Amino acid sequence: MNASKKTALVTGASSGIGRETAIKLAKKGFDVIAAARREKQLNSLADQFQNITPKQVDFSQSEQTEIFCQYLSELQDPVTVLVNNAGYSIRGALEDVSIDAIRRLFEVDLFALIRVTQACLPGMRKLRKGTIINLSSIVGKFTFPCSGVYAAAKYAVEGITDGLRLELAPFGIKVVAIRPGPIATEFNEVSNNLSGDLMTKTDPDYKPIYQTAGAATGKLFEGLSIPGPDLIADLILEAISSNTPEVAYSAGPLSDEFLRKRENLDDKNFHDFILKKFHLADLHI
Ligand SMILES: NC(=O)c1ccc[n+]([C@@H]2O[C@H](COP(=O)([O-])OP(=O)(O)OC[C@H]3O[C@@H](n4cnc5c(N)ncnc54)[C@H](OP(=O)(O)O)[C@@H]3O)[C@@H](O)[C@H]2O)c1
Repeated sequence: MNASKKTALVTGASSGIGRETAIKLAKKGFDVIAAARREKQLNSLADQFQNITPKQVDFSQSEQTEIFCQYLSELQDPVTVLVNNAGYSIRGALEDVSIDAIRRLFEVDLFALIRVTQACLPGMRKLRKGTIINLSSIVGKFTFPCSGVYAAAKYAVEGITDGLRLELAPFGIKVVAIRPGPIATEFNEVSNNLSGDLMTKTDPDYKPIYQTAGAATGKLFEGLSIPGPDLIADLILEAISSNTPEVAYSAGPLSDEFLRKRENLDDKNFHDFILKKFHLADLHI
């Protein structure tokens, strides 16, 4: 083991927040393992930074995740900074989302995060140091209508993050949740492609719900300027650089308004706030 080497792993490093984070860590002198499915994007990162190692893995395939974890546990210089970032969302009323699609999403957004963390922890414990950054979302704390599946995975990420932070504190291993609001990455396009045209597949019962909530969402985003992934990558770097990071960081449009409301209102009043916000309070079908 080389004491001066600092190894970081960023999952989902082929685009968006993960890509920006991998670049910033590489510039800071970390040896960065950049993991995702798309080899071309990972290789182009490795071409630009000799301290970035591309690793192709599809986290929806548990056998591939296991092979990747085996590689992690055999590293000579163990990962001491882990950014669990790979993830995506699907939208739709629960009845419209297939159980297979839900399982796949949980495999990537939750189970792979758990397995990769398990594979990195022995190395961190041995060194008595490490930082684990888990990408949650503002919807790790509440949900929008027709977003329950994605929110459920992020609620679970919040639970895992809180549990880890407690049990790893005695080792000096830091655990942080990042809760972005909407950020301009490939995220939205991926979600649109996977969710498909909700109106064509839904039961007529749901159409007014999609229409009403969709129009309200449009209104909510009207005039908003959506920041790029740099904003979140900077927050991640801030958390990694700090000896006493916050428990959670949030940034991006809507994050302040919605997270503050979630903190300040009781469950019933928060439910009413969201219902109104999405114009569903007076919709009776
Ligand atoms: N953008 C937002 O508005 C927003 C808001 C809140 C939270 N977040 C969270 O932030 C994280 C990063 O998202 P982003 O905005 O940067 O989106 P993005 O540009 O779509 O990046 C997602 C990354 O995850 C990887 N990924 C997806 N499925 C994978 C799989 N099966 N196996 C391995 N890697 C996979 C993708 O790589 P490949 O396609 O190459 O596999 C990509 O590198 C996610 O956890 C997301 O939930 C995003």
